[in-house]
Amino acid sequence: MVQSSDVEELFTRLWCESVCVAEKMNVIFSLKEAGSDRAVTLLCAALMDPRERSVLVRHEIAYVLGQMQNPKARETLVDRLVDANEDTIVRHECGEALGAIVALEAWDTLLAQTRDPVPEVRETCSLALERLRWMQRQNGQQKHLTGTSRDKALVFRTVDPAPPFEVDVDPEASWSDEALGELLRDENVSLFRRYRAMFTLRDRNTDKTALIVSDALLQDRSSALFRHEAAYVLGQMCRPCTLAALEKALAKHQEHPMVRHEAAEAIGAVGTQEACTVLEQYCNDADVIVRESCLVALDIAADYAILNDLNP
Ligand SMILES: [Fe+2]
Ligand SMILES: [Fe+2]
Repeated sequence: MVQSSDVEELFTRLWCESVCVAEKMNVIFSLKEAGSDRAVTLLCAALMDPRERSVLVRHEIAYVLGQMQNPKARETLVDRLVDANEDTIVRHECGEALGAIVALEAWDTLLAQTRDPVPEVRETCSLALERLRWMQRQNGQQKHLTGTSRDKALVFRTVDPAPPFEVDVDPEASWSDEALGELLRDENVSLFRRYRAMFTLRDRNTDKTALIVSDALLQDRSSALFRHEAAYVLGQMCRPCTLAALEKALAKHQEHPMVRHEAAEAIGAVGTQEACTVLEQYCNDADVIVRESCLVALDIAADYAILNDLNP
């Protein structure tokens, strides 16, 4: 449990010159765990502070603010979302976070941003609005979730941009893995429905479903946002069988950095020696967010290795 005095101290660490990006990511995680209003206020201040130049760090702050689901973050998230000079990846996380917070007051902003010139921002805001509509249909409640869904929600403790299909409510919940894979890959279907298929496959959590998502990551031509989410989901699934696909995604220098970044983090989550060897090759990548992601991923993999040594 993080004490309130620790929260202030953690915040000051973000501005120490000696603190590397990997350590900053740990600080952000600790502030999230603190979960207090004060932690949210400090994270918002960090997101607004021009001293923080790392897109990786700033997008992580926005992501964490969404996961914390505290409405106090709304104004800051709107401010960063609508700023066309802000980095696309940060703007994306802000839009998604507004959906995660269920910020109905931001409805008009999200709607306006569905006409943004940047496709990843447009698509994120459309998804956030779809999520808000879905939440409204559910009356803003999560309590309708069936036992199975709730259990799965515990396995993947994230607030997702779209819900998985729900047993006893959505017929797609009983579709075969293959049928869901087809829906996932169908570029003529809305991103929201494709995401719902993706999170359903994630929650089935087998090598087979992970490989279906890997396949979509490599085959999709419609949306960098979709591909980055596929890589993110593979990071949650942590399955060594997906390493080859993740490596291919990371190796594509013409790919959007948001996809390569998520692929690097997912490779870190796989965490095997082979995975670390892949990451080491990209620690000097021309793209800053890719090389920072590789360094952070190697740091996390090293922590897991120490833990495994302690608890063999
Ligand atoms: Fe994202
Ligand atoms: Fe990310």
